Amino acid sequence: MKFFLDTANLDQIKTAGEMGIIDGVTTNPSLMAKEGITGNENILEHYVNICRIVDGDVSAEVISTESEGMVEEGEKLASLHEQIVVKVPVIPEGIKAIKYLTKKGIRTNCTLIFNAGQALLAAKAGAAYVSPFIGRLDDIGQDGMELIHQIVHIFDIYGLETEIIAASIRNTNHILRCMEAGAHVATCPLDAITGLLNHPLTSAGLEKFLADHRKLNK
Ligand code: E4P
Repeated sequence: MKFFLDTANLDQIKTAGEMGIIDGVTTNPSLMAKEGITGNENILEHYVNICRIVDGDVSAEVISTESEGMVEEGEKLASLHEQIVVKVPVIPEGIKAIKYLTKKGIRTNCTLIFNAGQALLAAKAGAAYVSPFIGRLDDIGQDGMELIHQIVHIFDIYGLETEIIAASIRNTNHILRCMEAGAHVATCPLDAITGLLNHPLTSAGLEKFLADHRKLNK
C-alpha cells in the first residue's frame, strides 16, 4: 500500500520525505489556495517544486469544466514534469478528457468520486487512479469505507488496473480501515500518517527506559 500526502505545503512534503514515508502527493485547488499560491505561472511553478522534493506521482488538478479545456490544461500540466498526474473531476466532460489524455499516454487521477458507478466509468475511460472521498461521505452521514470496499470488490472482479486512492481521509483509523479494504493508496494529511506512530504505551515505555538509563549513568 502507498501513502500520498494530501497537501500543497512544501515543508510538510519535505518532512514526510525525510521520514521516507511518502510515495507521492495529491493537491487540489483548495489546497493550493490554502498555501496562498495564486496566478497561473506561480501555480505551475509550485507543481514543479513539489515534484523536485517528492519521489513519486504528483496530482495536479485541472480547473476547466469542458473537455477541451481540461485536455489543454492536462497537456500543459503533464509537460511540466514526468511525475505529474492530471487530476480530472468525474463529470461527463471529465470522462471524455480522461479517455483522450489516456490515449495520448498522459496519466490521470479521476477525483470527486462518491459512488462506485463513477469509479467504474473513470476506470473504463482509462484513469490511472480513482479518488473516492471517504471523509466527505462520512460528513453527510454515509459510510465512506463502504464505498472503498465496493470499488475494491468491483475492480477485483474485472481485473481493472486503475489504482484506488482513498481520499478525504480524516484520521488514522480511516487509513487502517482503507488498508484492510485493499485500497492501493491512501492520500492523507501529514498528521493522520504520523498519528499511526502514536501509542501511550510507546511514550510511557520510552520515558521509563530513558529514566532507568539516567539513574545508572549519572
Ligand atoms: C483528494 O485528492 C483530495 O485532495 C482530498 O483528499 C480532499 O479531502 P478533503 O475532504 O479533506 O478536502
